[in-house]
Amino acid sequence: MQTTQAPTFVSTFEQEVYEGLTAFPKYLSSKYFYDEVGDKLFQDIMAMPEYYLTDYEYHILDENKGEIAQLFRKDGEPFSLFELGAGDGKKTKILLRHFVNQQISFDYRPIDISQNALHQLETSIKKEIPEVEVNTLQGTYFETLRDIGKANGRRKVILFLGSNMGNLLHPQAIEFLKNMRDSISDDDLIFMGLDQKKNPQTVLDAYNDKTGITEAFNKNILTRINKEMGGNFDVDKFLHWEAYDPETGTAKSYLVSKEAQSVQIESLDLNVRLNAWETIHTEISQKYDDTTVEWLANQADLKIVNSFTDDKQWFKNYVFKK
Ligand code: AVI
Repeated sequence: MQTTQAPTFVSTFEQEVYEGLTAFPKYLSSKYFYDEVGDKLFQDIMAMPEYYLTDYEYHILDENKGEIAQLFRKDGEPFSLFELGAGDGKKTKILLRHFVNQQISFDYRPIDISQNALHQLETSIKKEIPEVEVNTLQGTYFETLRDIGKANGRRKVILFLGSNMGNLLHPQAIEFLKNMRDSISDDDLIFMGLDQKKNPQTVLDAYNDKTGITEAFNKNILTRINKEMGGNFDVDKFLHWEAYDPETGTAKSYLVSKEAQSVQIESLDLNVRLNAWETIHTEISQKYDDTTVEWLANQADLKIVNSFTDDKQWFKNYVFKK
């Protein structure tokens, strides 16, 4: 009798690629968009006129920095400002500069999976705002939330900007919020930026720019599989496709196979067959409204204590407490 050998994987990336490409319908996780090339493409996305999220959140922070500072400092005790997925810190620096100017006593603890991103961020803060005490933490959100929970002493404020939670489905977002809740005390705060429902065309344009940057970002996952697992995807045989459901507020990215094709991935010992117009679902970017955010907070036993938005209400920063 012939037995099939269970595949062995050297990383979660390999395991999840195997699972996603042998499932029906096929999927891959957007967390794998990000390597050095993907990080750079995401920087380019944030600078695109269509990708309004970054600019809108930047202005909300700038307009409201005084009130935000009052919230964070509470009675003037020193606090630790943690930031999940800190990236290049462009938006956070508005707050850091303001806190320094107001002589607010705090330290900044950016968290990222990429040591390289943390190093660059620390170097740029040391240069631009040398007064800020920076302590970096490298790890996944899950590991670091556990560490934040154990760090006692100063009050904690956790920043989670850029609508990063939008890349999670609601059940995962609730798990994530529960983890956050478990890592804070009664006096601590969570400050989170969430992109809002709006004209569906505006959302579609943000994820489907004419210059093709988002397309390259989406396809980078295939390029990574080629580089890191000996795959032979021809990225030109895939379309980048964006769909937005205005009812649920979910934007979804796909890679659509333009023809019937067969792809070999050496280190997974896997032959992937795709029919013409078959899809690989790669990302969700959830858009929210107050009702949904209240429901999510409620599910995670968190309270919304404040929020800040722009004139058009395109983006919103929420403050949560236990
Ligand atoms: C990181 N994340 C919140 C971005 C988003 O809007 O979903 C990633 C992105 N994907 C395409 N463009 C930007």
